Amino acid sequence: MDQKTIIADTERYYLPVFARNQIVLDPGKGCKLYDMEGNEYLDFLAGIAVNALGHAHPALVAAIAAQAAKLIHCSNLYYTCVQSELVKTLAAVSGFDRVFLCNSGAEANEGALKLARKYGNEKAPGKNRIISAVHSFHGRTFTTLTATGQPKYQKGFEPLPAGFSYAAYGDIEALEQLMGEEVCAVILEPVQGEGGVFVPTDDYLRQVRALCDRYEALLIFDEIQTGLCRCGKWFAWEYSGARPDVITLAKALGGGFPIGAFLTTERLSGVFGPGDHGSTFGGNPLACAAANAVLRVMIDDKLADKAASTGSYFLMMLGRLQERYPDKILEVRGRGLLLGMELAKPGKPIVDACLQRGMIINCTAGNVIRLVPPLIISKVEIDALLSVLDEVFQEF
Ligand SMILES: Cc1ncc(COP(=O)(O)O)c(C=O)c1O
Repeated sequence: MDQKTIIADTERYYLPVFARNQIVLDPGKGCKLYDMEGNEYLDFLAGIAVNALGHAHPALVAAIAAQAAKLIHCSNLYYTCVQSELVKTLAAVSGFDRVFLCNSGAEANEGALKLARKYGNEKAPGKNRIISAVHSFHGRTFTTLTATGQPKYQKGFEPLPAGFSYAAYGDIEALEQLMGEEVCAVILEPVQGEGGVFVPTDDYLRQVRALCDRYEALLIFDEIQTGLCRCGKWFAWEYSGARPDVITLAKALGGGFPIGAFLTTERLSGVFGPGDHGSTFGGNPLACAAANAVLRVMIDDKLADKAASTGSYFLMMLGRLQERYPDKILEVRGRGLLLGMELAKPGKPIVDACLQRGMIINCTAGNVIRLVPPLIISKVEIDALLSVLDEVFQEF
């Protein structure tokens, strides 16, 4: 079948919720992707911060194939070696004590918010309000889109679940004004991704921690995009030292295989008892085998350090690009390999021009070019993108 027919059939039958680029991706290898017509692309999106090991990483492919031949699924009413290995490794790399496995980022946040509500309701009647940040992104289910501090995602889905309020991100006074005894949790991304790649000060995150302690509210860090080496440490909160009570993970965890998780402390492990939460597919053997392979590569290849050093090179070079085009590029920012370039104008034409030149990049929040390549990206590949960007900015 040709590219045109595939696009037409998809547009005909898929619900029209995505604004897609007009190419059909087929194989991928490392940081490269190919379309059906054989055109090659360098991938600076990685399935939106998912393909941390790039495409077709041999360790991930082998782990999935071997597990698929053994046991793809069994119920959580039984134990499996791969799930046992995964929860142990996640605890070891994160310093958390308890893990719940699910299938996506939104589900991880749903679980974390349920935990927070149950914690609050058990502590005191009415302790159930959840505070999140303006410009945040936490998912598309009813509760997570309500936690998402962007009205455009909520519009038309009213009535939304009750008990949420929003504080300006990075502004401790704004949060302090909303805090009270009735707050059961604050949920934040330690670096906002989808909202436009905003890096708060470490001090802000520490002050948030202190406020949560003062009001006995749980601090939940949504590390779905930032976690698992993306920001140059295993978890982005580590820069601040503000250890949360719960972190949520997904995206990179399966290297492209759907899996999510939330992690918490022993202190909170008793909040949920049997039957309080669950998932048919969550933590199934195939997903766990994928995640085990991803974590093993992250540990062995020191991908957090690699993301830190390649990321600082990338950011420095984006800074030089900004110096060349100060009227077009307003700011470059980010941490590790979660980088943003705020433009004076909408970013879509830049994304399109890059795609035509074999570079896959993404624009978020209208005018922020978001760069989240596989963590194995090389400086040579980064230089290739930079020279295309230079060409494109000259033209626009
Ligand atoms: C910080 C953050 N939280 C949650 C989500 C939702 O994850 P999913 O699309 O897997 O439900 C995303 C997805 O972009 C995200 O970036």
